[in-house]
Amino acid sequence: MIRCWRLDDSRQSLVLASQKDHLAEVVYWGPRLPDDEQLETLTRAHSIDVTGGMLDTNPELSICPEATRTFPGQPGLVIRDGAGRPYLPKFCFVEDQAEKDRLILTFRDQGGVLTYRAYFSIDPDTHVIEARAEIESTQPMYLHWLAAPVFPAPQLSDEMIDFAGRWCGEFQMNRTAWSAGIRYRENRTGRTGHEHFPGLIVPCRGATNASGQAYGFHYGWSGGHRMVAEELPDGRRQVQFGHATRIETEPATRFATATLFAMFSDDGLNGCSVAFQRHLRDRIVQFPDPARPRPVHYNCWEAVYFDHNLPELKEIAARAADLGAERFVLDDGWFGERDDDTRALSDWEVDPRKYPDGLTPLIDHVHGLGMTFGIWFEPEMINADSNVFRAHPDWALGGEDQILGRQQMALNMALPEVRNFLFERVGKVLADNDIDYVKWDHNRVLPMPDAAQTRGSYDLIDRLRSAFPTVEIESCASGGGRIDFGILGRTHRVWLSDSNDAVERLRMQHNAALFLPMVVTGSHVGPRTCHTSGRIIDIRFRAWVAAQRHMGFEMDPRELTADEAQVLRQVTAWWKANRDWMAGADILRLDSADPAVIAEQHLAQGGGQFVVFAGKSQTSAQISPRPLRLTRLTADRNYRVELVNRADAPGLSRGDQALKSGPLVLSGAYLMNNGLTLPWSFPETMWVVKGELL
Ligand code: DGJ
Repeated sequence: MIRCWRLDDSRQSLVLASQKDHLAEVVYWGPRLPDDEQLETLTRAHSIDVTGGMLDTNPELSICPEATRTFPGQPGLVIRDGAGRPYLPKFCFVEDQAEKDRLILTFRDQGGVLTYRAYFSIDPDTHVIEARAEIESTQPMYLHWLAAPVFPAPQLSDEMIDFAGRWCGEFQMNRTAWSAGIRYRENRTGRTGHEHFPGLIVPCRGATNASGQAYGFHYGWSGGHRMVAEELPDGRRQVQFGHATRIETEPATRFATATLFAMFSDDGLNGCSVAFQRHLRDRIVQFPDPARPRPVHYNCWEAVYFDHNLPELKEIAARAADLGAERFVLDDGWFGERDDDTRALSDWEVDPRKYPDGLTPLIDHVHGLGMTFGIWFEPEMINADSNVFRAHPDWALGGEDQILGRQQMALNMALPEVRNFLFERVGKVLADNDIDYVKWDHNRVLPMPDAAQTRGSYDLIDRLRSAFPTVEIESCASGGGRIDFGILGRTHRVWLSDSNDAVERLRMQHNAALFLPMVVTGSHVGPRTCHTSGRIIDIRFRAWVAAQRHMGFEMDPRELTADEAQVLRQVTAWWKANRDWMAGADILRLDSADPAVIAEQHLAQGGGQFVVFAGKSQTSAQISPRPLRLTRLTADRNYRVELVNRADAPGLSRGDQALKSGPLVLSGAYLMNNGLTLPWSFPETMWVVKGELL
């Protein structure tokens, strides 16, 4: 007997089938199928032949491949019984609950011990499929590995794209050729990590940013993930995502994966980016006040570090407000005896040496300047040199001889007393002061990965959010070490990187746009000489790169010359004038013919306007700029395009290139097929082009 189910939106169909009561298998995933497709026939058509050297029947590539069915690749579940013996289930169909955009499938193993349940839903507007799995057991079991429902990967694909990174170097794209065997990525650091962002894009042959077919995956969990992309000897391919292995350290009767977000795109990698961006922005992030425009930030970290001095901070705040800042964020150094990064983490009380009258004088001053006030915490961490550690050494996670990270240890977030303490201390600072924003940091990896730690962190954030529902939270972990849809269901912004180097940020932001919309991606104008790269960068480039995302400043404003301050004021004013529509826009990565140019187009909802940011990260190989093809415009309509910053053309741009002298009216067809020819420019500069549908 064959049972079939399908989930559809306007551009994709996902078909699952269970044969002979076995676990279901994805038998089709791709462009939308006709409504009257015969799913049983499709399932039979999907089966592959048998020849020499093969089993007599090919085992299904099911949503949880089972070793007991002779599956020749990585299984979806590895579990042991209470005595530590491997338990090898063979699942049989129990029931389905099928609604229009949702499907729940339940299977029980023949031994009657385990129940496996898979949940699928499809969002007709964002095109994102959410899938998760859970296991229930009649007796305590030890879980080694549980995959979220397993999807097949296309065979007409030559490579996969995943993401590596490091401190100050997040979102580095890797392209790896498919070949027999597995590509295995596992993050065992206990946080989402810079090293292995939990995402995967599988482009079909010939796909570009703007065209072709592609499949996208993201695992929404902050405790470290495992990804397996495997090609079986018969050519079939599977993609598995789940928590990192063995991070459930206690026996239990219920285990669940986080949500795997997946989609098929028929319009290139941008189809994946737009789906992820919209889903995150419109379905996952819960802004306390969605109508409130994203405020321009000022963060004092790179201006003062731990050296907090009230009159100086007041002067910095005044200058930041004059530049256009709307929220002042007081970073590390305001609590305990936190004079450097060796001490005081977890002593979350205002340092009376630096703030004898508490934070109120600074907050009042900031409010008087028309800004709101944000503050930094690193709740999950503790220094040995802290009052809290001296009182509760047993609260630290890991052994006494553990290797420290940034001179600190993590707190054991699985302990209710630790969470209660943090809730009370952080809550008191939020209750006693008028604070609308928390920058929540997490600067070290865990001594060992443990899912209970992540659940503890989630629980604390959830409690604080419900006690202080108007406070927004930024997820930071030495920059971009905790960015995923799990944490973003509880926070509102990410600190993408500790690198404020605009050249590096240009690339990072561009790659991160495969998953992240503008509204959650913090981007600050750093100091003239970048603190993490030593590069000296012109204010125009720094300002425009920050204006691509949720804009802010992080330099000491006292270093700005009058000209630099004026440029920053102007770009900030431009950002404020455009942020409303940009907040809802899709960021489209453009296929730049020049590898030196990293370009993207923010296209407003409805397509009525756009802005193109074309950043020249280095000197081009050829002399003249290559035309830049735009995307997703209406071919037979006209657009008025104008260089926003044409005054930035250098003297060496000597010609009368048309865009330099004013707006042009061009068709969508021309802009998409020939592309926009920009004036010549120096490296480390940005052209900004505004477009309007006429
Ligand atoms: C690491 C963060 O990424 C920085 O922005 C800053 O907040 C420091 N921690 C403070 O210690």
